[in-house]
Amino acid sequence: MANETQKGQQMWGGRFAAQPSDIMQSINASIDVDKRMVREDIAGSRAHADMLAEQEIITAEDNEAIQGGLDQIVSEVQAGTFPYRVELEDIHMNVEARLKEIVGEPAGRLHTARSRNDQVVTDFRLWTRGALTEASRGLKQLQTALVSRAGAETETVMPGFTHLQTAQPVTLGHHLLAYVEMFERDRSRLADCAARLNESPLGAAALAGTGFAIDREMTAEALGFDRPMANSLDAVSARDFALEAMSALAIAATHLSRLAEEIVLWTSAQFAFASLSDAWSTGSSIMPQKRNPDAAELIRAKASLIAGQFASLQGAVKALPLAYAKDLQDDKTLTFTAFDTFGLCTAAMSGMIETMTFKPENMRAAAAKGFSTATDLADWLVRELKMPFRDAHHVTGSLVALAEQNNIDLPELSLEQMQKVEPRLTNDVFSVLTVEASVASRQSYGGTSPVRVREQVEQWIQRLGMES
Ligand code: ARG
Repeated sequence: MANETQKGQQMWGGRFAAQPSDIMQSINASIDVDKRMVREDIAGSRAHADMLAEQEIITAEDNEAIQGGLDQIVSEVQAGTFPYRVELEDIHMNVEARLKEIVGEPAGRLHTARSRNDQVVTDFRLWTRGALTEASRGLKQLQTALVSRAGAETETVMPGFTHLQTAQPVTLGHHLLAYVEMFERDRSRLADCAARLNESPLGAAALAGTGFAIDREMTAEALGFDRPMANSLDAVSARDFALEAMSALAIAATHLSRLAEEIVLWTSAQFAFASLSDAWSTGSSIMPQKRNPDAAELIRAKASLIAGQFASLQGAVKALPLAYAKDLQDDKTLTFTAFDTFGLCTAAMSGMIETMTFKPENMRAAAAKGFSTATDLADWLVRELKMPFRDAHHVTGSLVALAEQNNIDLPELSLEQMQKVEPRLTNDVFSVLTVEASVASRQSYGGTSPVRVREQVEQWIQRLGMES
């Protein structure tokens, strides 16, 4: 019955006597996903129709009718009244069918010298271009939050870790700025991708180009592309722009996940370096004392979902012969989901960073534990006693062992105790054993000392255009 009533609605139905089965329609239709590209689809159609008129492939009157009808469709989309119909498969045929209802015959001329194969990938490149800008904006907001927190914490001392074992004291500002650097590289990967994808596939038609005298430069320019793609087979079948975008998102999400992991650690009772604001914590239904870092945990999980979306599309594309195949329809749901998820992650991370409370006393206390200034002691031996670093390392190791046997920290050893190991040690050595002295001394470029970190904060304020 359903098949009977739909008879004649398929735009490609000329050679078919029967309608597709309901299940065929369900597996084939993409409108629920690709309706997100309605604006891009209309922009592509406008550019194409203008070009067809300019080239006298359609008349100026037809173009006027088409543009007017598209205006009305834009209003319907904005008003939420545009009728998305699943039996029309996808956004391209939905727009064209509605145009036909509004303007009649000229709508049928719009598809001259075009195919859904070049149309869909034109829309998709335009959509991805916008999404890359949005993703970059989200990262920039997060960088801004990190830089402003870092600016207030240039002197806050915390333990720096390797192997998650206390290694050397660092400053919290320095630690936060490490992520700002990562996110900057992520933004530059997104920008590279946006620049590389910015070529127009429109006019490649189904796969081989067209016999009509189209002007591909004109449509490329109208849509803000740098140039038309030079090979029609490549134009309709390439999806490396989506793969590149998702790989860049997956890398950026990996950085988000590392920061999320630090938040999970820092907000635990065992670390107690920070606590999340109420707005960014959740409680437990059974344990009243709990404040859980759910958003951080979810960011950690979502980083691998995004990497999975990349892997799924790579799998879908890797064995496709040229040119278009319907496998490529599923590129959009993967890419849209990856961008949506990423946007949520950057927004949640910004919210957590902006509002979390640091606990500098706990950080400092932790930094002072675990013989974290042992390297400073070794450096003192090198500087003051001209000891080769290897020997200094050995002497310091013995001092650490001595402190450990006595269950005390390095600065708590008496000079007499120390001199049993190395008689040339003087009281001056105690000046390098505090965590403050340790971080202050690390003034090499890129180092953790407050002076260097303040310089970096200043530079980031400039680079990100923040108010100082
Ligand atoms: N909805 C399709 C897609 O997203 C449009 C292209 C269809 N082309 C075709 N030859 N059936 O890929």
